Amino acid sequence: MTKLYFGGDYNPEQWSPEVWKEDVALMRQAGVNLVTVGVFAWSSLEPEPGRYEFGWLDQVMDLLHEGGVQVDLATPTASPPPWFGLRHPDALPVNASGVRLTHGSRDTYCACAPAYREAAVGIAKALGERYAEHPALAMWHVHNEYGTTCHCDHAAAAFRRWLQHRYGELDRLNAAWTTAFWSQGYADWEEIQPPRTTQYLVNPTQALDFRRFWSDELLEAFREQKAVLRGLTPKLPITTNFVFGGWVPVDHSRWGSEVDLVAIDHYPGSAGRGAEEQTAFGADLARSWAGGKSWLLMEQAAGSVNDGHRLHTKEPGRMARHSLSHLARGSRGALFFQWRASRGGAEMFHSAMVPHAGPDSRRFREIAEFGTALPRLAELDGSEVEAEVAILWDAEAWWVMQATHLPSEDLDYLTAVQAAHRQFWTAGIGVDLAGPGADLSAYRVVVVPSLYLVSDAAAESIARYVEGGGHLLVTYFSGIVDQDAQVRLGGYPGAFRDVLGIRVEEFHPVAEVELASGGRGGLWSEHVHLAGAEAVDRYAGGVLDGSPAITRHEYGEGVAWYVSTQLDDAGYGELVGQVVRGAGVAQPGLPAGVEVVRRKAEQVTWTVLINHSEEDVAIPVTGFELLSGVEVVSPLRLAAGAQAVVRA
Ligand code: GLA
Repeated sequence: MTKLYFGGDYNPEQWSPEVWKEDVALMRQAGVNLVTVGVFAWSSLEPEPGRYEFGWLDQVMDLLHEGGVQVDLATPTASPPPWFGLRHPDALPVNASGVRLTHGSRDTYCACAPAYREAAVGIAKALGERYAEHPALAMWHVHNEYGTTCHCDHAAAAFRRWLQHRYGELDRLNAAWTTAFWSQGYADWEEIQPPRTTQYLVNPTQALDFRRFWSDELLEAFREQKAVLRGLTPKLPITTNFVFGGWVPVDHSRWGSEVDLVAIDHYPGSAGRGAEEQTAFGADLARSWAGGKSWLLMEQAAGSVNDGHRLHTKEPGRMARHSLSHLARGSRGALFFQWRASRGGAEMFHSAMVPHAGPDSRRFREIAEFGTALPRLAELDGSEVEAEVAILWDAEAWWVMQATHLPSEDLDYLTAVQAAHRQFWTAGIGVDLAGPGADLSAYRVVVVPSLYLVSDAAAESIARYVEGGGHLLVTYFSGIVDQDAQVRLGGYPGAFRDVLGIRVEEFHPVAEVELASGGRGGLWSEHVHLAGAEAVDRYAGGVLDGSPAITRHEYGEGVAWYVSTQLDDAGYGELVGQVVRGAGVAQPGLPAGVEVVRRKAEQVTWTVLINHSEEDVAIPVTGFELLSGVEVVSPLRLAAGAQAVVRA
């Protein structure tokens, strides 16, 4: 691949052929070179079982090809047509309370139902056979955002098979699930159910295994379609768009090696500066799922950020800044949901590249401006994103922390990881996200935020990292349970006691807490005893008055820090500063709100600078600026909202 992709989801089935022609003309004007077609087109492609209507798609594919736009052709299996559910009522999903859902939205299927799996492979095969040789076809987009689960009897049977494979013996399952508690001991595999709605709290290991099971089951469903498409088009890349959300039971770090190109959808959940930080976080996470290689931003919103309550219109320049942040962090392009804003349907007010107002709009002008500038950045593709720091991220640790009845309902894994990421984003220090158990030896600093669940192997590899000279920062509520979600006894954090040189006797969830240094924490505190570590800061006041809050321990050739509360951003930033200084990580000291990413290839480096602030700034950098095509000599003047990519 020698170019960066620009485009989005294109849903021509919602429009007349006259509009298709205008679409292609506008795509050319906007520099669009790749569109995802057909994601939700199943009922237009197969209006009755076995009767295919490919004529309209033939025309669309031809038109796009004539216009120089390549197609990422989707299999429409995330939304079976109404006839499917009527014909196969057993393939409609059942929620945890036993309610069978009916058609009327999307994602209304159980991926464990044989009829669904057969139909999904069937429509993928029909599309593959029809378009394998079409010159517009560049990539396959299987399904949409795998993550939909079900609690029906098909799912129960598949869950039992998965458990038999994981545990072998029922005794091992009973031990792992601690079924002696509340008389849950199983005497027969058939007694085991999915974690359906029950009287009181659900068994947390059962709930965790159900999510692990669904990740594997959905992966199988993906593989079935992939095998069919691979057979028909051996040379074309096959992907699916990963979605990031608390409801998603898909472990993307494991799925990353199953797709030819990791692709993500990214919709920040906050407005303001939070959206910028989340954009950088999502992009760094995607790169980790891609094993450090490049990946693709498959969907983002052209014109809005949704904070869960309302849309916040992206101010002028913001779409471009978010897109560049993704590109800087390894995306091979910037794609959107969707090309043209729908006139009706459930998402008609979702922003689009061509808004309801039409092309005579700020939105479309910004899209066209960015899309036509994109080829100037093509040389970034394939270079490495520089990072001397890794933050650990683990899907299972996230899932298990969504259990009920943890010591505080405010404990939130994603918040903890993003808070860590934010400190480095603010300081302009590049980070990778890495899975526990990854080879950490290349990093000067590793941060482990609230990794409640950690396996023996991952704990061991983290300890070896420090022994070998690494600098580790672990935050509160880490290393508490093992892979079966059972507490590691003898004092928290059982997995990291030795390396941290501490022993935690008790948790003290709190609203706010003060530290002797004047710093402030919140949410959480712990009764920490020193066991080799030194206290860097202590609690001041309250029941923990005088006991260690932040500790530092020299272990082997390295250093391990622990912070037992959730520091506010000022305190967290200071602590991170101390850790990185000790580890010899360079701190660029950029003006507030300026995002920086460094890329390198053999002889060349690139500095990507994005000024999210409302101030004009001056940055010490010299080289060739790709967007404007001019040589710049330090200091580079970067206006408020502007961006630059400087090659040196
Ligand atoms: C997801 C889906 C799209 C669309 C957008 C809206 O990413 O893949 O079909 O629903 O969300 O935000």
